[in-house]
Amino acid sequence: MRIASNSLSSLVSFYHSELNSIYDSAEIQAILDLTLEHYLGYSKTDIITRKNENLNQSDLLKLYFCCKKLKNHTPIQYILNEAWFYNLKFFVNEHVLIPRPETEELVDLILKENKTSLSFLDIGTGSGCIPVAIKINLKNSVVYACDVSPEALTVAKKNAVLHNTDTHFIELDILNEKESQAKITSSVDVIISNPPYIKFDEKNLLNKHVIDNEPHLALFVNGADDILFYKKIIDLCGEKLNNGGKLYFELNPLSAEDVLIYAQKSNLFKSTELIKDMSGKMRFLRATKN
Ligand SMILES: C[S@@+](CC[C@H](N)C(=O)[O-])C[C@H]1O[C@@H](n2cnc3c(N)ncnc32)[C@H](O)[C@@H]1O
Repeated sequence: MRIASNSLSSLVSFYHSELNSIYDSAEIQAILDLTLEHYLGYSKTDIITRKNENLNQSDLLKLYFCCKKLKNHTPIQYILNEAWFYNLKFFVNEHVLIPRPETEELVDLILKENKTSLSFLDIGTGSGCIPVAIKINLKNSVVYACDVSPEALTVAKKNAVLHNTDTHFIELDILNEKESQAKITSSVDVIISNPPYIKFDEKNLLNKHVIDNEPHLALFVNGADDILFYKKIIDLCGEKLNNGGKLYFELNPLSAEDVLIYAQKSNLFKSTELIKDMSGKMRFLRATKN
């Protein structure tokens, strides 16, 4: 299909008709908001008030090719190389998970509960969205972040620089206990993680644009034990979480109870609690160390 004319309203109609088999109308509008802000600097109001204005050929072409990539199931965040998280713009590429609203909720919870300058460790940091958002909001905190993927760490470091935040990045495999003990050199007040938690045989439950584009290293846990990452991180808290310190997890609601039971049986914590997200799903765990 072709764009009927050079006007913004024709472009908007084109996006809706090309993408309505993949996204619902609200999602297409959200994509248009991001796209038009990125390529033309238009606000949401501009999109309404300037709808009868003509776009130049060069802009029209960029927006046309962007739509083709979207139709090919590429997420808009990877096309634009940017994603919003906690009101901050992050660089993203195919090596990192696109930050999710649930993770913003997790950061919000952590910032509400930890107002003084503490030390934090984010395990499986991806784009670095969690440590950067924490450091920006708690300026005097000391923030460490690790990931097994050097490519993800390159992105996370870029975001720390973009936001002028001082974060200590560590490349390590959290499933390797010896490596974790050696490379995490000091214990911290708060450990946070949103680790991979989808079993590979559950991949059919995910949207095509997620499976085809987001890094499988960030999504899937290999092997039979879908809470393996949580177990390793809970075990690590024995050595690397200060007494009275807190552990925060983002969870798969399907295995939230199993993670809670493992944390309780570890005898490391004086309190453990599952917390629901905004849509009422068991999404987070908070555990306070003895
Ligand atoms: C679900 S993503 C979370 C990314 C980011 N924290 C967020 O919330 O958007 C999980 C992250 O864990 C990392 N990861 C996977 N296996 C790991 C391992 N064995 N050790 C450390 N990090 C790992 C992935 O590279 C990925 O960045």
